[in-house]
Amino acid sequence: MKKVLGFALSLTMAGMLVACGGAQGGNTAAPAADAGAATEAPAADAAATDAAATEAPAAEAEAPAAEAEAPAAEATGNAAKPLCWFNRQPSNSTTGELDMAALNFNDKTYYVGFDANQGAQLQGQMIADYLTAGTADLDRNGDGIIGYVLAIGDIGHNDSIARTRGAREALGTAVDAGGATDPTPAGTNLDGTATVVQDGSITIAGKDYIVRELASQEMKNSAGATWDAATAGNAISTWSASFGDQIDVVVSNNDGMAMSIFNSWSKANKVPTFGYDANSDAVAAIAEGYGGTISQHADVQAYLTLRVLRNALDGVDIDTGIGTPDDAGNVLTDEDYYYNADERSYYALNLAVTADNYKDFMDATKTYAPVSNQLDEAAHATKNVWLDIYNAADNFLSSTYQPLLENYDDLLNLNVEYIGGDGQTESNITNRLGNPDQYDAYAINMVKTDNAASYTAILSQ
Ligand code: BGC
Ligand code: CA
Repeated sequence: MKKVLGFALSLTMAGMLVACGGAQGGNTAAPAADAGAATEAPAADAAATDAAATEAPAAEAEAPAAEAEAPAAEATGNAAKPLCWFNRQPSNSTTGELDMAALNFNDKTYYVGFDANQGAQLQGQMIADYLTAGTADLDRNGDGIIGYVLAIGDIGHNDSIARTRGAREALGTAVDAGGATDPTPAGTNLDGTATVVQDGSITIAGKDYIVRELASQEMKNSAGATWDAATAGNAISTWSASFGDQIDVVVSNNDGMAMSIFNSWSKANKVPTFGYDANSDAVAAIAEGYGGTISQHADVQAYLTLRVLRNALDGVDIDTGIGTPDDAGNVLTDEDYYYNADERSYYALNLAVTADNYKDFMDATKTYAPVSNQLDEAAHATKNVWLDIYNAADNFLSSTYQPLLENYDDLLNLNVEYIGGDGQTESNITNRLGNPDQYDAYAINMVKTDNAASYTAILSQ
């Protein structure tokens, strides 16, 4: 099993070399500079390369370069323990570029999240479908414009960025910025002159309408917490007081913010409101006029978060109980998730939840049946895991994800200590990782996706 992991790791490293075209060119173009390594390599690999060495000196000359990259200093202590990043993928919050150092922290490091682009497209499509299946009264003030407002979660979070783009693309309001849809908040745009969005068009019941993003902003409170539901509630009261009759649709990057808007305004005004996450309260609200939501398959993600740790602790193939049935019969299918080895990342697939199917999604905290079998304690002894939730007040993480984790930790024989952060400062959480030696594995949900090193530094001490 170790071999499989080692092989996967060198594949990943090869992938990284390919990604950095310059570095790879350097390796192949400069055998002379690598001469020292080249002469040492056969000794280290004597048995394997002896025969080849006499026959294929040219090929051999390339091998040592790759070999020299492979054995990164062997991690020890806490730095060698299983680590799973989840929900906030280590990445540059400005460019979105993945933090490969954090994702390759050791050979037992993974990320678990969901396919942000697939989900974002699904959300956009769900909203567009709702509108095109509707009637003329969707245009509440009859001005020929379908006006919507957009609640943005966190401008530095790749999930949030993807959802803003997905909604704008589906509604025709997207503007290109350097090869991708501009995800910048528009502020207010009642006259349609904003530069980060444009007016789109849509046909409803045989009549053409303009689609306009009337307003959008990041829902961040004054203390710095993002995806903030209370801030979204304040925004809709400001927006509705000045242009409420122009708002025909509400779109939100998540259910927490959308439900705050729905409960304080759109429900009473019968304005379709769309969120993301399929939290139980949002799913139930579909019966009362909430437009729809997206399930990011949190039941699969929560399982994977703990499952990769369990497998790494057991020293078994990482695919156990994931793509390959385990000894209790747990297994997922490729309709549930996919794994990207280069990114060391598991991505759950999303599902649209609308008036047509919401009854199947009423309890967001129920474990996923195909992976709900108890592991045998004799074969999978109880281990201790440290896990944090970046913001104890985050609607999705506290009402959906953590309850799921708590259900799976029993099934997987993991004794998990849950730490709830304030959503604002990393140190509020890292301060509570004072004794990492006590744990066998770690699961980390960062406040800011750039901050992986704040955690890995502690584990490396
Ligand atoms: C969820 C949001 C949540 C955020 C926290 C997203 O995947 O959809 O509801 O606030 O994660 O990082
Ligand atoms: Ca209108």
